[in-house]
Amino acid sequence: MHFKIAVLKGDGIGPEIVDESLRVLQAVGGRFGHEFDFVEAYAGGEAWERYGEHLPAVTIEACRNADAILKGPFGGPTSEVNHPKWQGVETTAILGLRRVFDLFMNLRPVVVYPEMLPLSPLRPEIVEGADMLIVRELTSGIYFGERGERMVDGQRQVWDTESYTEGEIARITHGAFQIARGRRKHVTLVAKSNILNSSVLWREVLAQIAPEYPDVTHDYLHVDNAAMQIVVNPRQFDVLLTNNIFGDILSDEASVLAGSLGMLGSASLNAQGFGMYEPIHGSAPDIAGEGKANPIAMLLSAAMMLRLSFHLEAEAAAIEQAIRSALAAGLRTPDIAAAGGTLVTTSQMGDAIERALAAP
Ligand code: IPM
Ligand code: MG
Repeated sequence: MHFKIAVLKGDGIGPEIVDESLRVLQAVGGRFGHEFDFVEAYAGGEAWERYGEHLPAVTIEACRNADAILKGPFGGPTSEVNHPKWQGVETTAILGLRRVFDLFMNLRPVVVYPEMLPLSPLRPEIVEGADMLIVRELTSGIYFGERGERMVDGQRQVWDTESYTEGEIARITHGAFQIARGRRKHVTLVAKSNILNSSVLWREVLAQIAPEYPDVTHDYLHVDNAAMQIVVNPRQFDVLLTNNIFGDILSDEASVLAGSLGMLGSASLNAQGFGMYEPIHGSAPDIAGEGKANPIAMLLSAAMMLRLSFHLEAEAAAIEQAIRSALAAGLRTPDIAAAGGTLVTTSQMGDAIERALAAP
């Protein structure tokens, strides 16, 4: 089959990890007989250099014409946040892409590879076997709610608003239940319904929808309790359904289970199943270009693209298997080197995964 992929390499370590994913995708294409057409487009700091804006119309057009978007991280060094190249890049480029394509369903799987157990700050007997999927609402809530600023008694008052419609909650709730069917069939809703009215609405909508999925069980946790449970007993979770801001926070917390932020990929989908695939980590400008970045999060994102956008399950599984082989062979980029093994560069890790793919 033939697929067209819009490739946004991004900033910092973006280009080096995306290049590894393109190489591995080519290898998958060779082994399984598919053709991947990579169309490079620019957003973030790179787009600012070329076009003077973070999300140019040509980039949106290139993404619109593709079957999926493969995206590296965007953003610059924290010391340069006020430089126009970076100012507002998160809102314009990242939130912009999510909004333009209505990518409301963000899937962040947290899988713990046995080789990574020594890296976790948690005891191995707690972390071992944890396997959860955070389903985060991505196009509404406080990230996109009404904002304002006014003077009150001579002081600036600034506000952001958490707001959800029933429809916004319903569509992602259906998504979470459908995905749970293909997993261990349990959904945990995470909100703060003892305080927030919007959270009460999440619970009400879920209660209406759950009976349509009699084979899937569900429960509810307040977010403060969920944050604790993720480190105390992570194995209890299958699918965690939550709003935009709680999902942002809990996914960074849960990444600790996997040993490194460099080990987690993600998918963001719209109602038509169109998706954008990206690692959950940032652009790490401090190590950009040094061959120190871990390409695995990007490769896992590419595997999710094959599975979710192109319905190529065997091909996606082949990438995941090749990653496991490289880890089992002891290959380690610096972020995961404390787990022992052989220190390798970004491209050496990519090489090993590509070889494992060619000769499984
Ligand atoms: C994430 C990131 C983004 C978010 C930032 C970079 C805008 O933290 O994808 O988790 O807050 O959603
Ligand atoms: Mg985040």
